[in-house]
Amino acid sequence: MLNHDILVVGGGLTGLRAAVGLCDRYNVGLVSKVYPVRSHSIAAQGGINAALTNNPDSRDDSWEKHTFDTIKGSDYLGDQNAIEIMCKEAIKIVYEMEHWGCPFSRFSDGTIAQRPFGGAGYPRTCYSADVTGHSLLNTLYERAVAKGVKIYPEWFVAALCIEDGQCHGIIAQDTHTGELIPVRSKCTFFGTGGYGRVYKHSTNALINTGSGIGMAYKAGVPLKDMEFVQFHPTTLVGTNILMTEGCRGEGGYLFNNQGERFMKRYAPSAMELAPRDIVARSIQTEINQGRGFEHPLGTYIQLDLRHLGENKIIERLPGIRSICIDFIGIDPVREPIPIMPSQHYSMGGIDVNERTASEIKGFYAGGECACVSVHGANRLGGNSLLETIVFGKLASIAIQEDLEKDNLKPNEKPLKMLKDAVLKKIERLTQPGGEKPYIISAELGAVMDEKVGIFRTHDEMSQALEKVIELKNRYKNVSVSSAIHYMNYELQSAIELEYMLDVAHAITLGAILRKESRGAHYRLEFTKRNDNDWLKHTIARMGDDGDPVLSYKDVVITRYQPMERKY
Ligand code: FUM
Repeated sequence: MLNHDILVVGGGLTGLRAAVGLCDRYNVGLVSKVYPVRSHSIAAQGGINAALTNNPDSRDDSWEKHTFDTIKGSDYLGDQNAIEIMCKEAIKIVYEMEHWGCPFSRFSDGTIAQRPFGGAGYPRTCYSADVTGHSLLNTLYERAVAKGVKIYPEWFVAALCIEDGQCHGIIAQDTHTGELIPVRSKCTFFGTGGYGRVYKHSTNALINTGSGIGMAYKAGVPLKDMEFVQFHPTTLVGTNILMTEGCRGEGGYLFNNQGERFMKRYAPSAMELAPRDIVARSIQTEINQGRGFEHPLGTYIQLDLRHLGENKIIERLPGIRSICIDFIGIDPVREPIPIMPSQHYSMGGIDVNERTASEIKGFYAGGECACVSVHGANRLGGNSLLETIVFGKLASIAIQEDLEKDNLKPNEKPLKMLKDAVLKKIERLTQPGGEKPYIISAELGAVMDEKVGIFRTHDEMSQALEKVIELKNRYKNVSVSSAIHYMNYELQSAIELEYMLDVAHAITLGAILRKESRGAHYRLEFTKRNDNDWLKHTIARMGDDGDPVLSYKDVVITRYQPMERKY
């Protein structure tokens, strides 16, 4: 058994920032399913929001205006106290990352460059060309290494140990040896990322299974607002690789097959820079109504950058250009990019407060796996990288405060029992003859895409629910091809699949029961937001039978009463 004062699970921006903030005073271990610089934070492109006022058009910007834009963007479901904290912290953490060596793009006066992004009143998205996540992640990883954070790379977490209202640690598997290792810790922090791969078409890396969310839920931690799933408007047709909002921030246009900049019909003032829920719905409507272009890989809309000119594209969007050339043989300097919306982000997640604390003693979560909630029903572009670093930092402060107050004593016994349960599960999964896990995960992704997508109806979601329940039953008879424990990714996927099914169940049930349209959750039978009945967070707890039991919790409103959103 390993022992750490604090255990961080996840080697992305959130986990690294939390570990960096704690490692000077505590014995911190960081467990990551992949080598940390392969975490999904690396894939973030367009930027990180902070009201620095560097852009000539953003001199009047302020953290308060950033706060308001975020609340309005969230369709008033975000908790306003937490959003205020995030937007105020934004300025500090961007400069902190700059001082730690992050190579931000610069204006000619040497200040950090800022570009416009969707739903923002001012150009406030700081960026590193179109590889902002890459720059931030490498900067934080270097910092963690320099500070001597103990990292366990390519360790897979199989289960979270909670007993008697307290977290005791995790059961990890060293992928290289296959050994199961209980890790005991006074405080455990999850920065395990989103659940994008519960959907088939997603901008997310294959590692984004939502297993961290699912294992917290199974261990007894409630989830919040799981029905709110973000669909990014512009992903490359076929592969669904992200085509950053920075393309539109730099001035890119969207065209339908009539040669029309159709956003003028949906968001006459913000046009292509309306919030993502609106732009994704508008694109999908154009496609559904026959105004898309046909391609063997799917029906698409054009994202046109040609008028920006070669120099600007090469300077600001070099990654986009090479992805288009490599993956679809199109140079955006000369041809429009074929795009379609697809799953991108998980607004919902583990229910935590603005200190990242859950209701379980010693268990904390931050970043995309968590729901604070700072994004409410719809996240603004550029607020995700922000959330990761801000709440990684705030977690390190909260954990330190709590450790100073409480003498937490995690127990070995429940960890040993959980290890036995995981071993038993592996024994079952490695018996020959069962159904293969990839068949179930493919069917899960397909049904979530088709029936719990951008436009939702009671009937389709009920069919999806039935399918998820059927897949949960079939899961009981799943088995993998090889019984070896080391380097067995099929075995790890089979363990994760159970968590993915639980996550999908919570998303779908939450979506069926929420009888309104708000942010990314759009119901064809209830097309309006209904603040009287639904200005509340959905809380999902796993019942004794493994099904979600839902309840509701108030949204925190400080200064901004809900208003109609106009863009
Ligand atoms: O479009 C993008 O670059 C994505 C940004 C984000 O999700 O915040």
